[in-house]
Amino acid sequence: MSTESRVAIVTGAAQGIGAATAERLAQDGHAVAVVDLKEDNCADTVARITKAGGNALAVGADVSDSDAVEQAVARVADVLGPPTILVNNAGVTRDNLLFKMTEVDWDTVMGVHLRGSFLMSKAAQAHMTAAKWGRIVNLSSTSALGNRGQANYSAAKAGLQGFTKTLAIELGKFGITVNAIAPGFIATEMTKATAERVGVAWEDYKKGAAAQIPVARVGAPEDIANAVSFFTGDAAGFVSGQVLYVAGGPKA
Ligand SMILES: NC(=O)c1ccc[n+]([C@@H]2O[C@H](COP(=O)([O-])OP(=O)(O)OC[C@H]3O[C@@H](n4cnc5c(N)ncnc54)[C@H](O)[C@@H]3O)[C@@H](O)[C@H]2O)c1
Repeated sequence: MSTESRVAIVTGAAQGIGAATAERLAQDGHAVAVVDLKEDNCADTVARITKAGGNALAVGADVSDSDAVEQAVARVADVLGPPTILVNNAGVTRDNLLFKMTEVDWDTVMGVHLRGSFLMSKAAQAHMTAAKWGRIVNLSSTSALGNRGQANYSAAKAGLQGFTKTLAIELGKFGITVNAIAPGFIATEMTKATAERVGVAWEDYKKGAAAQIPVARVGAPEDIANAVSFFTGDAAGFVSGQVLYVAGGPKA
C-alpha cells in the first residue's frame, strides 16, 4: 500500500522534532506547512525541504490563539490545498516544583499543548471530514507517566492521550485516525535547555540519560519522525487511538 501525496501541517516545525517530522513527511511525498510562532523562524526547515525537491510553506502562528489558527489553516488550504494530515507538535516547558510553579507557568503549558492541539485539530478536521480521510498525530511524552518538576507538562501530556482517544472515537467514521506518540529523551533545544537549567554540561546530561535507556542512547528527532511517518501513511488506516512510546525501551 503506497502512500498518496497529501497536504500536511506540522506545528512547532522551526526546529527539533517538528523540523525533522516536516522533512520526513515531505520525503514521503506530502506538501508540508511548516508552522511555528514566527514565519521567519520556519525559513530553514522550508529551505531544507525545498532543496531536497519537496514542497513546503512557512506559516507563522501561535497555536494557542484561535484567530491565528483559523487564519493559518485557511492559508494552508488556499496555498497548498486542504490539509488532511496534522501533527500537533508545538511545545514548551515551564518546569518547577509545585510550590514554586506560577499560574502563568501552568497556563502557558496548558495553552500550547492542550488548547493548541484542540484549536488546530478543530480547524483541520473540517478539511479531513470533507475529504473522508485524515491523520492526526499528537505529541505526548513519557512525562505523562509523572516527572518531578513537571506537574503542568505531565498533566498536559497525559491530557493529550485522552484527547487522542476521544478524537479517534469521534472521527473514525470519516476515515480519520488519531494517534499519539510519547517520546522519551530526544536531543533537541528543549532537552538542552533543561540541561542548562539544572547546570549539567550537555554531553554529560545526554550520557546520563543514555545510561538509563535500554537501547543505550538518547533519541534523535528522526526517531520520532519515523513513527509519525508510519501513523500518517495509508498503511496505518486501522491503527487509531493508540499511544506509542518511542523511548528506547518499555514505558507504561
Ligand atoms: N525533546 C524531548 O525529549 C521530548 C520528549 C517528549 C516529548 N516532546 C515533545 O515533542 C514536541 C517537540 O519538542 P522539541 O524537543 O522538538 O522542542 P523544541 O523546543 O526544540 O521545539 C518546539 C517548537 O515549538 C514551537 N512553539 C512553541 N510554542 C508555540 C506556539 N504557541 N505556537 C507555535 N509554535 C510553538 C517553538 O517555537 C519551537 O520551534 C513538544 O510537544 C515536546 O513537548 C519532546
